[in-house]
Amino acid sequence: MYEDVSEVLLTEEQIQQRVRELAEQISADYRGKDLLLVCVLKGGILFLTDLMRQLEIPHAIDFMAISSYGAGTESSGVVRILMDLNTSIEGKNVLIVEDIVDTGHTLDYILRNLSTRRPASLKVCALLNKPSRRQVDVPIHYVGFDIPNKFVIGYGLDFGEKYRNLPFVGVLKPEFYR
Ligand code: IMP
Repeated sequence: MYEDVSEVLLTEEQIQQRVRELAEQISADYRGKDLLLVCVLKGGILFLTDLMRQLEIPHAIDFMAISSYGAGTESSGVVRILMDLNTSIEGKNVLIVEDIVDTGHTLDYILRNLSTRRPASLKVCALLNKPSRRQVDVPIHYVGFDIPNKFVIGYGLDFGEKYRNLPFVGVLKPEFYR
């Protein structure tokens, strides 16, 4: 699998260090509050579990699955909920845990949808951000890394459901998605 990667953008050490920093910041910001982490499946799963282990405050978790991409590397722009939350978020401090914000369509949809459910607060933590690709302006309160406009895989991110288990974030060789 490693031979399909042309470049390692973020090493395992860099990611783990940044996750620790984010967890420290989130722990300080939400101390004494009722925190619910909402993980956006499937890409956010590795980030969620690493972040949880570093958080120093009690918190609950829930999951949502959204579809915005087909099998390729371009967003279709059409977003829909494949799996909704199990619990009510009314009155809770919700922190959305996302793998990557690219065009912003997915996050925009999630924010609009969840804000109608009257959470006490609604914020976003995204491991990766591709600012140059943004089509919709969305707030990201905690960002792991800003990355260039490259299609990345690993640490939860897939191409055709593969590569999610890589412990680093890398760039897929172009011959694999042409
Ligand atoms: P957006 O709606 O364009 O912001 O895309 C958000 C979703 O597209 C993310 O949650 C990912 O699942 C997927 N995505 C965007 N960029 C990449 C990438 O570089 N590699 C893998 N998946 C990506």
